[in-house]
Amino acid sequence: MDYHAALAALEWQVELGADEAIGETPVNRYELPKAAPKPVIKSGPTSNIAPISQMPVIPVVQETAADIARIMAGRCDTLAALRDALAVFEHCALKKGARNLVFSDGNPTARVMVIGEAPGREEDRSGRPFVGPTGQLLDRMFAAIGMTREGEGAAGVYITNVMPWRPPHNRDPEPEEIAMMMPFLERHITLAAPDVVVLMGNTPCQAVLGKRGITRLRGNWTEAFGKPVMPMFHPAALLRDGLKKRDSWADLLALNARLKG
Ligand code: URA
Repeated sequence: MDYHAALAALEWQVELGADEAIGETPVNRYELPKAAPKPVIKSGPTSNIAPISQMPVIPVVQETAADIARIMAGRCDTLAALRDALAVFEHCALKKGARNLVFSDGNPTARVMVIGEAPGREEDRSGRPFVGPTGQLLDRMFAAIGMTREGEGAAGVYITNVMPWRPPHNRDPEPEEIAMMMPFLERHITLAAPDVVVLMGNTPCQAVLGKRGITRLRGNWTEAFGKPVMPMFHPAALLRDGLKKRDSWADLLALNARLKG
């Protein structure tokens, strides 16, 4: 097999979800480790160690991954710093299976910030959110109300996702994964400082509003992090069910009216 065929075969396996290389020699994972030698404990009048019952209890504070994320995100004063912090955050397992960090796209000074779910295959390859067929529909939706990724102010959009790494097989992000990455998303919203946030589908609604049920939530203005928030159907849902486009058009008009008004 030449280099290119080998690379194509490897990429195909990664695409199928392979995340481990099998070695030449079998590993018995059930084998018990060899017993460590017993420590010699001094006792009697020569020992100056207090008995355990007399030792003071020292509380152990275990930081969760979300705590670490909050500390790291809180130290970032710019979007570039936040991106760099995410790039070195090692606590989310999704990072290990992803090719690229997908941070954001569009104009960070735009008045509207769109939050999607997580990168898919195309986004993982390119490192940019919403570039596959779903992203092309998203661009057309915003273009219909005069907004583009390159636009300024009310004519621009800034785009990110709840999860910056692609979940395997495009599965939904787990609640623990969302909770872990929330401090970064919250900081992202603070630093981008949009006038309005658009939540695309259930995952960002769960993350930002703590609620699911996009059919009920969509089209109704609400508030989060001190910003007006509009939940909408995810464009992938519109690709599956074209009848939903009418509702999304109404939501886009409501967004446009709010920005103009
Ligand atoms: N779907 C999303 O929610 N985000 C992307 O970046 C791509 C598809």
